[in-house]
Amino acid sequence: MPRVLSGIQPTGDLHLGNLLGAVLNWVQDQQQADSLYCIVDMHALTVPKQPGEIGERTLELAQVLLACGLDPEQCTLFVQSHVPEHTELGWIIQCVTSMGELRRMTQFKDKSEQQEFISAGLFTYPALQAADILLYDTDKVPVGEDQRQHIELTRDVAERFNKRFGETFVIPQASIPRIGARVMDLQIPTNKMSKSSDGGAGTVYLSDDLAAIAKKFSRAVTDSDSEVRFDVAEKPGVSNLLSILSALTQRTPEETAAEYTQYGPLKKDTAEAVVELIRPIQARMAELKADPSATLALLAVGAEKAGSIASAVVERAKNNIGLLPRR
Ligand code: TYM
Repeated sequence: MPRVLSGIQPTGDLHLGNLLGAVLNWVQDQQQADSLYCIVDMHALTVPKQPGEIGERTLELAQVLLACGLDPEQCTLFVQSHVPEHTELGWIIQCVTSMGELRRMTQFKDKSEQQEFISAGLFTYPALQAADILLYDTDKVPVGEDQRQHIELTRDVAERFNKRFGETFVIPQASIPRIGARVMDLQIPTNKMSKSSDGGAGTVYLSDDLAAIAKKFSRAVTDSDSEVRFDVAEKPGVSNLLSILSALTQRTPEETAAEYTQYGPLKKDTAEAVVELIRPIQARMAELKADPSATLALLAVGAEKAGSIASAVVERAKNNIGLLPRR
C-alpha cells in the first residue's frame, strides 16, 4: 500500500478551501493507502500566539477532522509536537536546505508581509514541513495547490541528502486534486480563500451558521455580464462557484457550466451543496466536543503509531550522516 502523509495547521477555523483542497481527499485516501495525518502545531508557532491558544485549537482541529470523516481505525491522526522526531529531523533538513531555496518560497513572502515580528521559524518553515513528509517514507502528499512549491522543495532536498549521504529518504509526490485545489475568496475571487482575508464574508467556515453560509454564496461577487462560463482569467467569481459545485458533484466545471444560464440558480445550488456537506460535519462536531477525552485518547494512539515509524527513519538518517551513535 502506498504511504500517504499530509498536515494542517491549527490556526483558526477550517474553511471550505481546506476541505476541498485537502481534507476530503484525506478521507478518501485513508481507504486506499497507509495514511498519516498530522496537526502541525509546531508550524503554527511560527507566527506569534497567546499562551494556551495553540493547544486549544489543536484539540478543536482534531475534533473537526474526525467529524469530517477521518477514521482512526483506518488512518493515523496525530499531533506534530507529540512526536519529537519532527523537530529533530527538521534541524537536519535545515542543514541541507539553502537560504536561496527558502527565500524563493512564496508562502514566506506572503506571510512575512503580514507580520510585524518575522520569526526565523517562519523562514525555515518549509524545512520542517519537508521533515514531516520524509519522516514517514511518504509516497504521496495530498495538498492544495498552494503547497506545491513546498513539496517540490522537499523532493529537491531529499534528493540532495540521498546523494550526499546515500539512499535514505523516499522521494514523495504531491497529490493535488483536479478540481478544488484552489478555492477562491467569495468577495475577492482573485485571492485564495483563507482564514483571515476579509473579515469573513468571502470565507466559508465549517463553524458558520448554515444560514450564514447560504447568505455568503448569495452575496458572492460575480461580474457584470451574465454568461455562465468557466474562464478563470476573465470570470474568476463565476469560475470559483463552478469549481466548488463541480468538486462536490464529481463533474468538470465545463459540464456544470452547461447546466446554467443565470448566476442566481448557480449561486443557490452551490450554496445548497456546501450546506449539505457541512450540516452532518457540524452535527458530529457537537458530539465530539461533548467528550474531549475520547479525542485525546485517539491522538495518543496516533502519536504512538507515528513515533514508531519516525524514530526508525531518524535513526537511518543519523546513521547515514555518520553521527557518533550513543552507547
Ligand atoms: P494549511 O494549514 O494552510 O492548509 C491545509 C491544507 O488546505 C489546503 N488549502 C486550500 N486548498 C484549496 N483552496 C484553498 N483556498 C486552500 N487553502 C488551504 C492547503 O493546500 C493544505 O493542503 N504548510 C502546510 C501544512 C503542512 C503540511 C506538512 C502539509 C505542514 N507540514 C506536510 C503537507 C505535508 C499548511 O500551512 O497548510
